[in-house]
Amino acid sequence: MYESYWRKMGNKCDITFNGDDSLSYFANGKSLCWFLESKLEEQIKRLHNVVENAIVDDYYIVVGTGSSQLMQAALYALSPTDQLEPISVVSATPFYSSYPEVTDFVKSGLHKWAGDARTFEKNGPFIEFITSPNNPDGVVREPVVNGNQGKLIYDLAYYWPQYTAITSPANHDVMLFTISKCTGHAGSRIGWALVKDKEVAKKMTKFIEISTIGVSKEAQLRAAKILEVVSDSCLDPKMENFFEYSQSLMSDRWKRLRQVVMDNNFFVLQKYPFQYCLFTKDFCESHPAFAWLICKGGEEEDCQKLLKEHKIHTRSGRRFGSDLRNVRISMLSRDEDFNIFLKRLTTIRGPTNEN
Ligand SMILES: Cc1ncc(COP(=O)(O)O)c(C=O)c1O
Repeated sequence: MYESYWRKMGNKCDITFNGDDSLSYFANGKSLCWFLESKLEEQIKRLHNVVENAIVDDYYIVVGTGSSQLMQAALYALSPTDQLEPISVVSATPFYSSYPEVTDFVKSGLHKWAGDARTFEKNGPFIEFITSPNNPDGVVREPVVNGNQGKLIYDLAYYWPQYTAITSPANHDVMLFTISKCTGHAGSRIGWALVKDKEVAKKMTKFIEISTIGVSKEAQLRAAKILEVVSDSCLDPKMENFFEYSQSLMSDRWKRLRQVVMDNNFFVLQKYPFQYCLFTKDFCESHPAFAWLICKGGEEEDCQKLLKEHKIHTRSGRRFGSDLRNVRISMLSRDEDFNIFLKRLTTIRGPTNEN
């Protein structure tokens, strides 16, 4: 999706490695997370300060192989070890479809998926994932479970200006970010957690030590370079600002999608409020990474099946704890794919448009 921007940056993002570079398991930094490259740490802090989307002072940074690994590390670190039964893990529907899979995959005995946070009523400790803006529906979220024994994991993968207004610097106990959604470099597999509590950060680091003995240094150093260029682009008026560029791409796609949806009168799209963004210093609308499409038909309408008949590949609402009438569609596909998707969507006609 952001390929055109990175192509324009030419050799600004190039880095080279000699044969004798980065041989050790250990990084040179002084971080609690012993495999975190200091250059990456520096650029993560710099970017959050430039964008003002998260507080970094007095936080520990833990790097992971994507934020997917950090989700597992956070679940491990926040699960009590002195309980007879696994801690319940919840998230409000529609929730990111990986949470149930990640929670239960190895049947660890430490944690267990307990479904929709809105209907969770069990007393005692629990872990709640709060994804804001949310995948799949792009809504800005708060915790929903009332209970004082909750441990919260804020998944802020999409809390960047191209997707949503930056309304205040986030300062939660555990916050997850990923380069996949920030810059589009999903293949580098770099995510980071900002963690307030030292013991939690230590346990997360231990989890990554046991599962992969750290995180690829080449990937970390490349990510550091990419983040450096993003921050530079925000501060240097001679460069094209990455977030302005990506926001305008997203805004254009959303405008075109809304037009098609209005014309064919068969679907409903989520609406988002205008909010003041600290980064752009202007009011802006959200442009989520996914469109959450609802078929106007009855409860039994299988939206995924219907779209598949028109050769449109989507993920059913069922996967997100929601119903068949909903589907999630990626707004981050390549230009050619997005154009084909819109063309195919145009051919679907709602009842009032039928000839
Ligand atoms: C909310 C959310 N968190 C985490 C991830 C995973 O990110 P990563 O590529 O860093 O593993 C995704 C990917 O789609 C996501 O949507």
